[in-house]
Amino acid sequence: MESKILHIQGEVVFTMRPHVIINFAMSIDGRIALSTGEQTRLSDEEDMRRVHMLRNSVDAILVGIGTVLSDDPSLTVKEKYVENPGRPARVILDSRLRIPDNARVLDGRSRTIIYTLSGEERNINAEIRRMHGERIELKQVLEDLYSLGIRRLMVEGGSTVLGSFIKERLYDEMFIFIAPFFIGPDAPPAARMETASRLEEMVNVKIVESGHLGNGILLRILP
Ligand SMILES: NC(=O)c1ccc[n+]([C@@H]2O[C@H](COP(=O)([O-])OP(=O)(O)OC[C@H]3O[C@@H](n4cnc5c(N)ncnc54)[C@H](OP(=O)(O)O)[C@@H]3O)[C@@H](O)[C@H]2O)c1
Repeated sequence: MESKILHIQGEVVFTMRPHVIINFAMSIDGRIALSTGEQTRLSDEEDMRRVHMLRNSVDAILVGIGTVLSDDPSLTVKEKYVENPGRPARVILDSRLRIPDNARVLDGRSRTIIYTLSGEERNINAEIRRMHGERIELKQVLEDLYSLGIRRLMVEGGSTVLGSFIKERLYDEMFIFIAPFFIGPDAPPAARMETASRLEEMVNVKIVESGHLGNGILLRILP
């Protein structure tokens, strides 16, 4: 992918990073799981097919440790939806290396890369990339992934990771499937971030495409 221009605190910074595609499914009231944090099937079969085709088109799929702990996803491309599925890498943001040894993303079915800060050294089936500082900086993660050959990255969640990527505008396109359900305000939101108290603090985006897909609506959004 080409060089990207990022505007960081007024400065223009040139960097190399993958093309980043955010994808998630939410209820009409903007929730992405049940109140327990438990995953619920929001995508219907048509959207699942789209998601797996999208997964098959990228070099890597990224989630936060919260999603690994609550859903234990395998983050693979399913044959049910894609003929001859590829094996995109799996990328996990996990500052303290809390990932359980038996997590599905450690099953060796495809490359797994874990970004951490301080987690204890452990022998797990993944490439551990140690970052320095108070938090895992997404910009550094993206530059590092680029250096590892990742040119197209899909970001799947959960709430906190989506909030960080959206707030920092570190994406090139975003797909949101709006499913025909209400879940209620105590369930995880689509993007966990500081709540705007003024108009200028709201994060605006451009909705460039919208249409029915299965029994929901698919939005394509640009930053
Ligand atoms: N509907 C959908 O499409 C969809 C998709 C995926 C997930 N989900 C749902 O999302 C929920 C999980 O969301 P979550 O917010 O608990 O977890 P998450 O966003 O998956 O992971 C968040 C964790 O990642 C780590 N992290 C490290 N660096 C980070 C950074 N720069 N920015 C953000 N996070 C960073 C932090 O933990 P450490 O400090 O320990 O590193 C943070 O608490 C689950 O209920 C799941 O079912 C829904």
